[in-house]
Amino acid sequence: MRRYGARTVVDHVSLKVLPGQVTCLLGPSGCGKSTTLRMIAGVEMQDEGEIWVDGALVCDRVFRVPPERRHIGLMFQDFALFPHLSVAANVAFGLSGDRAAIDRRVDELLERVGLGNYRETYPHELSGGEQQRVALARALAPRPSIMLMDEPFSGLDNRLRDGIRDETLDILREQDTAVLLVTHEPEEAMRMADEIALMRDGRIVQQGAPYNIYNAPVDRDAVAFFSDINVIRGKVNGSLVETPFGHFLAPGVHEGNEVDIVIRPQHIRIDFDRAGRGPDPTIENGTPARGVVERARFMGSESLVEFRMDHDGSLMRATVPNVFLPSPGKPLWLMIRRDRCFVFPVRD
Ligand SMILES: Nc1ncnc2c1ncn2[C@@H]1O[C@H](COP(=O)(O)OP(=O)(O)OP(=O)(O)O)[C@@H](O)[C@H]1O
Ligand SMILES: [Mg+2]
Repeated sequence: MRRYGARTVVDHVSLKVLPGQVTCLLGPSGCGKSTTLRMIAGVEMQDEGEIWVDGALVCDRVFRVPPERRHIGLMFQDFALFPHLSVAANVAFGLSGDRAAIDRRVDELLERVGLGNYRETYPHELSGGEQQRVALARALAPRPSIMLMDEPFSGLDNRLRDGIRDETLDILREQDTAVLLVTHEPEEAMRMADEIALMRDGRIVQQGAPYNIYNAPVDRDAVAFFSDINVIRGKVNGSLVETPFGHFLAPGVHEGNEVDIVIRPQHIRIDFDRAGRGPDPTIENGTPARGVVERARFMGSESLVEFRMDHDGSLMRATVPNVFLPSPGKPLWLMIRRDRCFVFPVRD
């Protein structure tokens, strides 16, 4: 736990990271990700709680192993290399002992990150991606048991980033390092993580495999963090919620309480029936409701269509693969995939 003044910015965070695995600490800006990482690294002191590395206590309220003796590798967004040192000297920086052994380790790592021919080059002569690889080699050189990475790829341009991310992961897995990666980008977490810890307001609200976090979110905000959402609010009556899209089950919610039915745009079905009468209700898709196209945009791999719904004038968003650009004003029938929607009690 960590407080700044009266404000608790990291609260009851419990995380376990395993060798050879990537755990992503994912959450919006300001939720306490970097603070958590800094406490594990030992550059910041927690107010309560314990940190263990490799079965050994490294920090509690009285006892504290200094950062440099925690066997932790660090890689931050501004992974500043030492400008006056060559690539090889940068990588060797944290190593001590036998000169020949240091040289071997440096060579091995530079070879591995594809910079075997850059030993005597200086940082300013390297591209952003190359510098990033040197930083990785430098962090890995002392064989850390844990690697802490705080948005390490955010300084790279898009095209470079994907390649470097994958390459970095391959190297980290080979070295059997436990990785804790901080990011505020859901795509990055989905791409890199074996396990995602979703953080909000200083707490971990959900932790699990990317698949589970995406498909079994704990609440409405957890869905919204990964994609656009549509929300239909209703009241529970006899365990059911009645909506323009038919009845939904609301297990475990008390009579008379409100629920939000949350559905991602890609799980809305548009009925293309030209007759204009609307499709027949089905068990999977429920009852169709009608909306009028407000606007349609082509987004590259999909089209985004916004509808003004007849029943309450609310806006609903649907995405369709490929090109589908109906003209504004056109009425169409929508259905929502019942196997893909989430029902959450409304919390005030
Ligand atoms: N030294 C400090 N003193 C006071 N408040 C701080 C300090 N460091 C961080 N905070 C506050 O603690 C909260 C968490 O900060 P933190 O840097 O951990 O967020 P983050 O999740 O890493 O965000 P981002 O994605 O923007 O990097 C923020 O609201 C921040 O303003
Ligand atoms: Mg941060």
